[in-house]
Amino acid sequence: MTSILVLNGPNLNLMGVRQPEVYGHTTLSDIEAMCRAHATAHDLGLAFEQNNHEGVLIDRIHAARGTHDGIVLNAGAYTHTSVALMDALSSAGLPAIELHLSNVHAREEFRHVSHIAKVAVGVICGFGAQGYILALDAMRGHLESRG
Ligand code: DQA
Repeated sequence: MTSILVLNGPNLNLMGVRQPEVYGHTTLSDIEAMCRAHATAHDLGLAFEQNNHEGVLIDRIHAARGTHDGIVLNAGAYTHTSVALMDALSSAGLPAIELHLSNVHAREEFRHVSHIAKVAVGVICGFGAQGYILALDAMRGHLESRG
């Protein structure tokens, strides 16, 4: 069974409370439930995790090798700063999709920079919670097309 790791970075545990005008009212638990229902409906294995620590996220990406087929990563602010996360994705050798709730390109200039995009199959941003479902479908399609 195809298995996807959805990995969420710093501050995303506060979704629903944190700047709802930017990130909406949906909580990360709501999103996890949406993803789980979608994965079940499409016969996908799913791990859904969040961590605020860069090193833990790196360890999680390394451990995904051999366990999961692809990674959907909302790295939060680490997207814009972390060469180490970029290197972890390259080292794991699994296809990755960069994901954001907000349209980072319509926001501050420092959010226009992404280290993750350089090693990602593609980027999804600006669709709020629905972006997670789009990312699961995009990863499923990508893995299927690779055979
Ligand atoms: C975010 C966008 C990042 O710029 C920000 O630091 C976040 C959330 C998003 O999902 O829109 O923490 O990744």
